[in-house]
Amino acid sequence: MMSNLQQQKEIIDVFQRRYATKKFNPERKISEKDWETIMESARLAPSSFGFEPWKFLLIENPEVRQEIKEMAWGAKKTIDDASHFIVILARKNMTLENPHIQHMIEDVNGRTFDPESRFCQLFDDFQRNDLQLTTERALFDWASKQTYIAASQMMTAAAFLDIDSCPIEGFNQEKVDAYLAQNGWMDPKEFGVSLMISFGYRDEDIKPKTRQSLEEIYEVI
Ligand SMILES: Cc1cc2nc3c(=O)[nH]c(=O)nc-3n(C[C@H](O)[C@H](O)[C@H](O)COP(=O)(O)O)c2cc1C
Repeated sequence: MMSNLQQQKEIIDVFQRRYATKKFNPERKISEKDWETIMESARLAPSSFGFEPWKFLLIENPEVRQEIKEMAWGAKKTIDDASHFIVILARKNMTLENPHIQHMIEDVNGRTFDPESRFCQLFDDFQRNDLQLTTERALFDWASKQTYIAASQMMTAAAFLDIDSCPIEGFNQEKVDAYLAQNGWMDPKEFGVSLMISFGYRDEDIKPKTRQSLEEIYEVI
C-alpha cells in the first residue's frame, strides 16, 4: 500500500509528465491492455445528468489520418506518428426530445422514461432556465464541454501508464464534420467533432511546465 505522502507525490509526478507531446516515436505502439485502460477511463467519465453525450472514433487508417491532417493544423506534428489517434464527437441537440436521452434512462440506467417525470422536468428546466441552452450551438458546446472531461481522464490515465498525448483543438470543425459525415462515420444530425487527441510514446524530452502561481489563480472566500 502506498502511503498518503507517496500518493500525493505520484499524482503530481503524473501531472508533471503529462505534457502536450509534439514528437512521437512512430515505432512504439500502445499495448492493447493499456489502450483498453485508457478507453475505460473515458467510458467512466462523469457527465451532466449521466447522459454521456459522446462517441470516440479511433482513427487507424493512415489515409484517413492524412485527410484529417489537411484539415487540422494542430495535429500536423503528431497525427502521422501517434500510436493511437482519437476523434471525440459530442452529441447535438441533447434535449428531452433526443432519443439518446430515452436510451440512456431506459437501456443504460434501467429506469422508466417519462418526459413528465420530475427528473425529466428538472432536466428541461435546467437546460432552458439555468444554463439557457436554447440554441443548437449552446447545446453542442454544452455536450462538447463534457467530452473534455473524458478527454482529460484519458490523458491522465495515459500519463499514469507513461503514455504521452497531445490534445488537439486546431482543426476546421466544419470541414472535419463534413468529411466524417460524407464517409458515413458520423451522422451530422446526431454528432459534431469536439476534440482530437494523439496518444503514443514521446521521441523528445518532456517539456517542463510553465504555469501561473497558485496565488494568481486561487482565492479562498
Ligand atoms: C483544449 C486544448 C486544445 C489544444 N489544441 C492543441 C493543438 O491543436 N495542437 C497542439 O499541438 N497542442 C494543443 N494543445 C496543447 C496546449 O498547447 C498545451 O496543453 C499547453 O500549452 C500547456 O502545455 P502542456 O500541456 O505541455 O503542459 C491544446 C490543449 C488544450 C487543452
